[in-house]
Amino acid sequence: MTPIKSCLTKVKCLACNHEFEFYPGVDKCPACNGAWLDAQYDYQTVAQIWKNGLLGRINSLWRYVELLPVADPEKIVTMGEGQTPLVRASKTQQRLNHPNIFIKDERLAPTSSFKDRQAAVAVTAMNEAGIRECVLASTGNAAVAYAAYCARADIKLWLFLTSMVPAAKMRESALYGAEVIKVAGTYDQAKKVAADFAARRDIHLDKGAKAIPGKESMKTVAFEIATELASCLRPQAHGRWQAPDWYLQAVSGGIGPLGVQKGFEELFGMGLIDRVPKIGIIQVAGCSPMVQAFQAGKAKADAVIPETRITVLSTGDPGVGYELLYQVNQKYGGYMLAVSDEEAFGAMRLLAKTEGYSVEPATAVAFAGLDKMVKQGIIRPDEIVVVSCSGHTFPVEKHIMDEESVVDVRLAHPAEAVPGAPLDGLGSALERLDEQVTTIVVIDDNPMDSRLIRRLLQAKKPYRIFEANSAPEGLQIIRDRLPDLVVSDLTMPEMDGFTLLEELKKDPLTAKIPVIVVSAKDLTPEDKKRLSRQATSIWAKGSFSTQDLVEHVVETLSGSGGDVARGREAVKEVKSAVAAEPSESIAEAQEVKKILLIEDNPMDARLISRMLEKGRSLEIKQVQAGRKALEVIRAEEPHLIVLDLIIPDMNGFQILEALRKDKDLDAIPVIVITSKDLSQAERQFLTSQGVNSMWRKDKLDRKKLVADVEAQLE
Ligand SMILES: Cc1ncc(COP(=O)(O)O)c(C=O)c1O
Ligand SMILES: [Zn+2]
Repeated sequence: MTPIKSCLTKVKCLACNHEFEFYPGVDKCPACNGAWLDAQYDYQTVAQIWKNGLLGRINSLWRYVELLPVADPEKIVTMGEGQTPLVRASKTQQRLNHPNIFIKDERLAPTSSFKDRQAAVAVTAMNEAGIRECVLASTGNAAVAYAAYCARADIKLWLFLTSMVPAAKMRESALYGAEVIKVAGTYDQAKKVAADFAARRDIHLDKGAKAIPGKESMKTVAFEIATELASCLRPQAHGRWQAPDWYLQAVSGGIGPLGVQKGFEELFGMGLIDRVPKIGIIQVAGCSPMVQAFQAGKAKADAVIPETRITVLSTGDPGVGYELLYQVNQKYGGYMLAVSDEEAFGAMRLLAKTEGYSVEPATAVAFAGLDKMVKQGIIRPDEIVVVSCSGHTFPVEKHIMDEESVVDVRLAHPAEAVPGAPLDGLGSALERLDEQVTTIVVIDDNPMDSRLIRRLLQAKKPYRIFEANSAPEGLQIIRDRLPDLVVSDLTMPEMDGFTLLEELKKDPLTAKIPVIVVSAKDLTPEDKKRLSRQATSIWAKGSFSTQDLVEHVVETLSGSGGDVARGREAVKEVKSAVAAEPSESIAEAQEVKKILLIEDNPMDARLISRMLEKGRSLEIKQVQAGRKALEVIRAEEPHLIVLDLIIPDMNGFQILEALRKDKDLDAIPVIVITSKDLSQAERQFLTSQGVNSMWRKDKLDRKKLVADVEAQLE
């Protein structure tokens, strides 16, 4: 038998029809630079192989490799995607009085959406072309899918997501190790920012529906439907190819319907099916440029500013994608229709309640469209319909990923954006972004010092800074994040700065990261020599101007000719930069914070004060009774209140209530320290009053308490 491999022959440019040889990584037409490319295959050979059936092949979309754009099967990056169930929607059939409605359940994909097909084939294509870094703009699900597959292929991924993308999807993407950049703008703006970012850094940009892998991957939905449908209709028809009359999908940019349609057209061309299904494009009314153009009978769509809560479907400017879908519509029939957010939410509830399918709102859009198309007679009762159940994502627990894994970019407000107009402030947003993706690790066993350094640096530039309070912790963060710069203390318990530097030097991945040493230690010539192998500069704590240190960091980071993120190449000569005239030492730079301790037991009060004073310079006042406490709070407006619950004349709960009613005092954070065993109701009450931190007196842990107080004083 002929070996199973791709039968790709040529690439055709959709702009100028020029045909040329395929090569891994192809991304534009050599004749006109056009990016809309189409892969062509040796269909005769494929038809011969496929007409005998595909029994015994691998159970993933790669079973259709003859019609996929991969030259070297060894390079395939897979998690067993594809081959999702095709299931009869019996309850929906009953409700709509229609005999043949099927659900193509794409929720069973590795990251729970049909975008896994695209990610698998696109990441395989990158892998084959030797591309190791990629930029992608996404409305959410492609981000998660690409993040997972890129992780598998060791490809660094930069994701540009609009701030409307659900936080759970951002966290999930970050969990896979992708760099997540949140753009406060529309999806079309995020795409522009991503493209500019990729161009500036010369990183591969994923071109979605324009590029070959994405569209080709979606053909496999058609292949699977055509191989499964016959046996869903009549079990004895197993092994026969059969096409439905309709394929319905919720649409944003349109890569799904473009690919699925091409897949059916290929099968039809090879004589395997007897018709090319009609495509039903369902958009959400708040972002329906395709539907508007279709209903006006126009071959080109005008861009819109999305106004929908279903942000996964927020391509406001579909461009050539619509033109191609319109051509298909004119050739084979089909329909485009919009549903409201509310109709989609209604369909979502109904589908879950009746069929047992929990889907995300974007997917429900297709089912709301199905209802309308059947009820309006656009889909006739004798027609077989397949609806794409395109996705269902699961939230990543908030506590797994912190907010630091997300970078924020602010552009003009989406409502002010004009489609097609140049993006105001994009240049400065991108410059800021360079700084925002510049990572610094600050290591100091004294949390006060590390925090101060972080604050000073962040006051100057929006760097992403991670603090560690021990060398092993710092080393771990450095290995995880490969930062652009490290600022480290020398004298630390467990492992000192010298050892840390030696560890960094040993590993080729960390050997070139510049390290600025800030230390209180008097350095011997021997110490200096040891440091000189890795440290960029050494600063003596307490004897330099903080301003100078900040300037030095900025300089070090931009020292390699402007390429900030790769500043790690720029290891400068070691210098001992001790400023002649210290202006503001680390200790002096701290603002003294006022704490009011409301505690009637003098022993406890003393104990708590002592614990807190060890941490930082604080001004701690103590009062023993409720009314007096309120007076002092009003007069002093402390930065933090530490509250005992059982005290004379007014208890802690009453004090809290009084505080929360006073809008001047409402924002003061409160920590409760009590010997009382709190009931659930009491805890709930305290939480409802904004108290997040409650301590039992007998379980006080100095370190943790200090950290808590610090966090509240932030
Ligand atoms: C769950 C889901 N459904 C539908 C769509 C729309 O797909 P297309 O890109 O084919 O327009 C998306 C796109 O992100 C999606 O994530
Ligand atoms: Zn061309």
